[in-house]
Parts: sequence; structure tokens; C-alpha cells
Amino acid sequence: MVRVLFRRIEEMKTVAKLHGSQLLANKVLVSLFYEPSTRTRLSHEAAMKLLGGHVISTENASEFSSTAKGETLEDTIRVISGYASVIVLRHKEEGAAQRAATISKVPIINAGDGRGEHPTQALTDLYTIYDELKTLDGITIAMVGDLKHGRTIHSLAKLLCHYKAQLILVAPDNLRMPSVIKAVLSRAGIEFEEMTDLLRALTYADIVYMTRIQKERFVDPEEYERSKNTYELRAAMLEMAKPKMAVMHPLPRISEIHRDVDDDPRAAYFRQSENGLYVRMALLAEMLRPNGK
Ligand code: NCD
Repeated sequence: MVRVLFRRIEEMKTVAKLHGSQLLANKVLVSLFYEPSTRTRLSHEAAMKLLGGHVISTENASEFSSTAKGETLEDTIRVISGYASVIVLRHKEEGAAQRAATISKVPIINAGDGRGEHPTQALTDLYTIYDELKTLDGITIAMVGDLKHGRTIHSLAKLLCHYKAQLILVAPDNLRMPSVIKAVLSRAGIEFEEMTDLLRALTYADIVYMTRIQKERFVDPEEYERSKNTYELRAAMLEMAKPKMAVMHPLPRISEIHRDVDDDPRAAYFRQSENGLYVRMALLAEMLRPNGK
């Protein structure tokens, strides 16, 4: 299944670079974002436009939609699904996309539900790993930073259960991977090790996946202040890393990757964010293309 998607992603690179397509002409994407976003919203919207479709968008839905008047998410979705072919939803509550999907007449793409999941980012990440390393099997991936609140990490960890990956979970004690996700990994027979030391992980990882400390999820601002600078990857540290490995990050980065890493050929995070466009084009094409096209 993922091979089919990867093939479609490769096709979409060509479509985006050449002339676009009219595959989704007359289809409408509504993006409904209750939390800030740059990459996720704009890449979905660019993807839809490159495939010939239309886009309507509420980027600050808590303030600029009827939510501000007290409308429930359920009512909003019921209404919008009458205007749309697909809804891309980002919401601050875990489970919001699931709730929306039970009501909507059209597909819902979960663009992040609180600290829950971020599945289109996970597909982008999986494709990027493959594109950088040319394999998905037998890889060792270090996930670093705020593993407690990082939804991209939660989705990627679950997705990696389908491959023979080894995980190194690098986090301070207060931001460790939730036990529900670790239980999923154990059930799938995925080996993982938890540690606090980034340098140790760096020596044997094929992928180092850095994450932002998720300020907006902390109840105690002082705890955030204590945690925010736990990890900072610098170019000099990469001397210890394998010559063929990749540094990834879903972005935005704050201080966890120093700018001096950007010039290292192993810095893959901007290639990763570009891949997000092709992945979303492929997903929209698979979901919405007319039969037989
Ligand atoms: C991430 C998110 O929103 O979860 N960003 C993204 O979608 N690429 C990561 C983050 O905000 O730290």
C-alpha cells in the first residue's frame, strides 16, 4: 500500500514541477484551522490548487468562524461538509478529527488534534526517511525532545510499527513518550530504548528526529522554561554521527537545531517540508480523483 503511495508521490513531484493538473477541477477543499499552522495548511492548499481544485480557508477558526459565537464543532462540520469535497481540520482537542469524521459527509483530514496525532506529517516523515536512506527496514531512529506532547512523534511511532525499526526515545524525564504509545510499540514487537543523552543516541542513529518543546501544551509555564533548552543539536556534534544519516524536524524549530546544522548535507528538514506538498497532493488525488482517472 505504501509503495503505491510512494509511486504516486513521485508522480506528484513531476506534476508540481511541470504544469500542474486538472485532476481535481470542481473539487473544493476547506481548511479549518483552530490552531496556528504554516506548513500543514499551506501545503494542503497548494496541493489542491496544483491539482486544479478550489480552496476556501479559515485560518483562525476559534476567532473568525461561528465557534466564536458558541457553535459546536459538530454543527460547524455538519454545515461545512455541505460545501466541501474534503475538510482539513486542525483542532486543539485530542479526538476532534475523529468526532468530525463521524458527522461529516465528506472525508476529514486530521491536520493535528491537540497532542494526539498528525497523520499526514507522519506520511511525509515516512516518505522522507525512505527518500534519504533508500530503505525503511532495519533503521534506527532517535526521536528527540518533547515526546510527551509531540503529535508528529506519536503518529510516526505508530506508523513505524509496520517496519522493522528500532527506536531511541530521547527526552527529559518530564517529557517522555506516553505509555499508551509505548504499549503500541511493544505489542507490535518494536524495540525501543529510552534515554536522556542526545550525544549517545547520535552515534548510532540513522535518523535523528528533533522536535520542538511544545510550549502551548504546558500547564505550568515554569516547567516549560526549565525544559525549553534541554537539547540543541549543533554542527560540531554531527561529527559523531554516521556519515550517511539524516536530521529531520517537522518544523517550526526554535532552538533545538542550531542554524549551523543547515549547511550539513545530512540536514533533511527543509527537504522534508517540501515533501509535505507532494505527499498531500498524492493523498488528495487518491481520495478525490474521479473514478477511473
Ligand atoms: C508540527 C505540529 O503542528 O504538530 N508542525 C507541523 O505540522 N509541521 C510540529 C510543531 O508544531 O512543533
